[in-house]
Amino acid sequence: MQIITSAESLAPVVSNARQHGKSVSFVPTMGALHDGHMSLVRIAHEQSDFVVVSIFVNPLQFGANEDFEEYPRTLQEDAEKLSAANVDVLFAPDVKDVYPHGNQITQHAGSVGETFEGKIRPGHFDGMLTVVARLFDLVRPDISVFGNKDAQQLFLIRQMVENSNHRWNAMQVVGAPIIREEDGLAMSSRNRYLSETERELAQRISRALRAAEATQGDAEARLTAAEQVMATAPAVRLDYVALINPATFEPIEAGFVGRALLIIAAQVGGTRLIDNLSISI
Ligand code: PAJ
Repeated sequence: MQIITSAESLAPVVSNARQHGKSVSFVPTMGALHDGHMSLVRIAHEQSDFVVVSIFVNPLQFGANEDFEEYPRTLQEDAEKLSAANVDVLFAPDVKDVYPHGNQITQHAGSVGETFEGKIRPGHFDGMLTVVARLFDLVRPDISVFGNKDAQQLFLIRQMVENSNHRWNAMQVVGAPIIREEDGLAMSSRNRYLSETERELAQRISRALRAAEATQGDAEARLTAAEQVMATAPAVRLDYVALINPATFEPIEAGFVGRALLIIAAQVGGTRLIDNLSISI
């Protein structure tokens, strides 16, 4: 595995792979890698010949009171995992390489960027899209792989790519299933902030999703079932739970039939966690 830390050195390595007829896939991350990230790497391998993973903790997607400083940085360990998984290139640039002209927002998430996660974290999705667009420009992959865990993020990335006028040619965006701990908690780099008690409480989030899935009835009945599970642990503060239409990322309307996405966000201690489940309505 090659570890590349400058934007300049990345381009020739990727073009060389391409000249050898290899298709290139890309898995952007912020590091502190867990099995969820590694599942994306496996999918990238299945669908391409040359796998590039980036690790960059993007300052633009953190709010002023968020965890940019505390965000776990474990580059050495991450590099070992990626090398063991036969990744071809680990791209770990610094801020100057990613934003040579200063930290300017270049992408706007629009109205969907202001709901749910975007409402609680203003500006987050503009910052996220800005770095993803910049990384796509640097890597120019044929395929990029993202987790369904961050459903709103994935929706917005797909929207950006669709509206980009083929800026990244025919790049395909692949969505990957959520990888969970044994007790159902969705894996996340932020889970390492949880104390033992909080870790136990955090199970409620995936349990709420399962309860809604198991409930017969309309959207309201499903949401009530999820809320009831959350209410059994007041220490887990529910930010939102909603059933959305995956085609629009807007709440489903009365009479909706088909697969809806049940999305949830909650705070356990100082840690925000998100999760989702696709259910038939
Ligand atoms: P990060 O939180 O490191 O996540 C990197 C990728 O891993 C994202 O596509 C995310 O959806 C996926 N992922 C995280 N947990 C997962 C799980 N339990 N199962 C499956 N996939 C999972 O998301 C970001 O970084 C950043 O916003 C980024 C896109 C890199 C832009 O900075």
